[in-house]
Formats: sequence, structure tokens, C-alpha cells
Amino acid sequence: MIAQLWHLGAISHPELRDGAQPVSASNVNPGQLSFTRAGRKPTVTPRPLTKQEIRVTAADFARAARNAMEAGFDGVQILANYLYLISQFLNAATNLREDEYGGSLENRTRFLFEVVESVLCEVDAQHVGVKISPMHEGGAFRANDETLPVTEYAIQKLDTYKLSHLLLMGNTTDFSGTPLEKLTGDGMFQHFRPLFSGTLIANVKMDRDRGNRLIAEGWADLVAFGRLYIANPDLVQRFAENAPLAEVDWETVYASGPHGYSDYPTYQPLKDNLNLYTVEKS
Ligand SMILES: Cc1cc2nc3c(=O)[nH]c(=O)nc-3n(C[C@H](O)[C@H](O)[C@H](O)COP(=O)(O)O)c2cc1C
Repeated sequence: MIAQLWHLGAISHPELRDGAQPVSASNVNPGQLSFTRAGRKPTVTPRPLTKQEIRVTAADFARAARNAMEAGFDGVQILANYLYLISQFLNAATNLREDEYGGSLENRTRFLFEVVESVLCEVDAQHVGVKISPMHEGGAFRANDETLPVTEYAIQKLDTYKLSHLLLMGNTTDFSGTPLEKLTGDGMFQHFRPLFSGTLIANVKMDRDRGNRLIAEGWADLVAFGRLYIANPDLVQRFAENAPLAEVDWETVYASGPHGYSDYPTYQPLKDNLNLYTVEKS
């Protein structure tokens, strides 16, 4: 069991920060929705982190990693995708900085690598992973010409750290007509597999057969299931038995309470099958 470490950056909201303005790479409103206690609200314009604050934030990741290990987790995963702080540095549309954290690929990835190196001061690389992908979402995160090169640069450099894993998300939005078009579907894993020699975990819309195929074809070492695991606590067994799969109830996800995360039922076979099973066992 590993703990995921992330910082919302500009996806936070003054209501979550006692009125304080959220922070980011630059003062660009990412144009997303923030989850506040009073429901979803549009994000606001953040303020840029100072260089001193960037150093403190990287150190905060290290402290969080240390806390996680002390609490008994087996490792940590740094979240470097979605729309959160690290992505806000990687993305040329949300990072307008003119110091050593903005501009070139090396500069826009600098914060990511300061976080990685800071975490590695606390936790051995075999217990540290990164979740990443060239996400294409709305607002400021719409794919641009810099999206693919910065992800390639980041993944190639991440490979040199001999991390526990790289969790690579496939496309969650339609890439047609964008610079990411060739990354649609399996294209994501086919493109990045040659750039990362460690354990590569493929994610997004996996099912049993696709997962087995991607591993057999060498495009991934492991596959990760999100929604299926929320709705099917016995997912492995259901796959083994080819049992029907339950779907996520969207009313109960995203900070609405424990209901809907830990109380999905396990698969109940039809009564006849159950009897058959019992007879065979005895
Ligand atoms: C309710 C819910 C909460 C999620 N929370 C996180 C999260 O905290 N961190 C993260 O990296 N991904 C999170 N995800 C995304 C999943 O980890 C996964 O990447 C995504 O659902 C795609 O995989 P899937 O197609 O198997 O669902 C969440 C997904 C859902 C449905």
C-alpha cells in the first residue's frame, strides 16, 4: 500500500485556505472547478510561488513522504499529472515564469525533479513512484505543442532515477485533432514504453483482456484499475471467474464521505451456482 503525494496548487480555492489565494507556477487561472466544502466552484487566479516557497514545497513533499513511511506505507507515489501543482509547472500555458523554473523543458521540469530528489533524500528509490501523463483537459490545460515534448523529457529523465514505477495514464479526453492524437488508446503506452526501462504501469479504461494483452505485447509491466476497483472490491476474483462487473456510483465519489468507497458488495453468484460450488467443495 503506497501513499500518493500531491499539491493542488491553483486547483485549490480561497475557501479551502482561510481566504488565502492559491499558489501556482504563475498567475494563470487554470479555468477548472475546485471542490470546496460548499460544492464545486470555479478556480480563481493564483499567485506565483517565490523561489523560496518552491524550495519549501519540495521539502514538504519530502516530509510527507517521511510521514507516510513512518506511518507504515510501503512506498509513495508523486502525482505529476492531472491539473495539479507539478503539472502547472510542466505546462507552458500555466507556467509563464522567466526564472529557472520556466521557459525551457529543463526549466519547466525543474520543480518536478526537485520534488523527486527531495523525496529520494527520505525514501529509497525502490519505494518511490511517479504518476504522469500528457493530460489533455479543458481550460488552460488544453494540449499545446509543448505538451508532448515536456512529457517525453520528464519520462526520459525519470528513467535515470531507478524508481519503483511509472504510472502512465492513457487518454481520458478525445485527442483527435490535437498534437497528442497518436497517443490515443494503446498509443500512449507504445509511445512511452521505449523511454522508460523500469516498471511501467498502464492505466485508464483497462479491463482484463486489454491488460493481459498490453503486458503480453510488452507495452506495460503492470496495469492499474481505478473505477473498477472502487466498485468491485473482489475485482481479481471476478476476473478469474469471468463474473459480471459492478459500476461506480458517481453520486458517492469525490469527498462525499466513506459511503461508496468501502461498502460495495462482493459478487454473489446465483443461488444454483452457489449450491453447485458448495457441493463440489464438500
Ligand atoms: C472517485 C475517484 C477518485 C480518484 N482519485 C484519484 C486520486 O486521488 N489520485 C489519482 O492519481 N487518481 C485518482 N483517480 C483516478 C484513478 O486513479 C485512475 O487513474 C482513473 O480512474 C483511470 O483509471 P480507470 O479507467 O481504471 O478508472 C480517481 C478516480 C476516481 C473515479
